[in-house]
Amino acid sequence: MHAAFAIFNESFMPVAFAKDRKENSMTLHIACFSASGVTRQAAERIQKLTGAEISNIEPAVPYTNADLNWRDRSSRSTLEMKSPMAPVELADVPELKDGDTLLLGYPIWWYEAPAIINSFLARYPKRKLTIIPFATSGGSTIEHSEKLLKKRFKTLEWKDGLLIDESTSDARLVEWLARAGIPAAR
Ligand SMILES: Cc1cc2nc3c(=O)[nH]c(=O)nc-3n(C[C@H](O)[C@H](O)[C@H](O)COP(=O)(O)O)c2cc1C
Repeated sequence: MHAAFAIFNESFMPVAFAKDRKENSMTLHIACFSASGVTRQAAERIQKLTGAEISNIEPAVPYTNADLNWRDRSSRSTLEMKSPMAPVELADVPELKDGDTLLLGYPIWWYEAPAIINSFLARYPKRKLTIIPFATSGGSTIEHSEKLLKKRFKTLEWKDGLLIDESTSDARLVEWLARAGIPAAR
């Protein structure tokens, strides 16, 4: 069960729309790809604040340590990031419906989102979704990854992302979520 989420203020809705929302309630999801657990921990912090369920974005074939070696020019991750729009086969993906909001987490790989994130988003070509990115990294910022995602997936509605590290306070997370229209409990 995903946490049902009132993104809109019901009192401003026309009756027909309000009824439609009730029958087809919109949901807040968290989905993250995390190769070594750091982004998953960030997702769990967001889960505590929002109550939304986390889905792991996983490749059909898991990454080995050798696959993740960015110093190796021929490792799987290096090759994937040379063609970041080439499909990466995914394990199960969550069911997202029109109107849903997705907090989307990933580690920065070569200054952008891992190729698997592009394959994940390509699974929802016609969905009206709002996406709020968050990322972890070894020092890179999130901005370049956001720019690329927005350019590649223009039909999705994008809200400002956040790079999360150990210096990111809960108050900062709450403020970021609020700016995206998501009330959070502290
Ligand atoms: C293939 C690969 C490429 C990476 N590229 C970058 C990078 O460009 N900039 C950076 O700051 N960190 C980079 N990192 C480090 C990760 O972003 C960082 O360790 C992240 O927190 C890992 O998250 P995870 O445990 O959820 O996978 C890279 C890591 C890997 C495995």
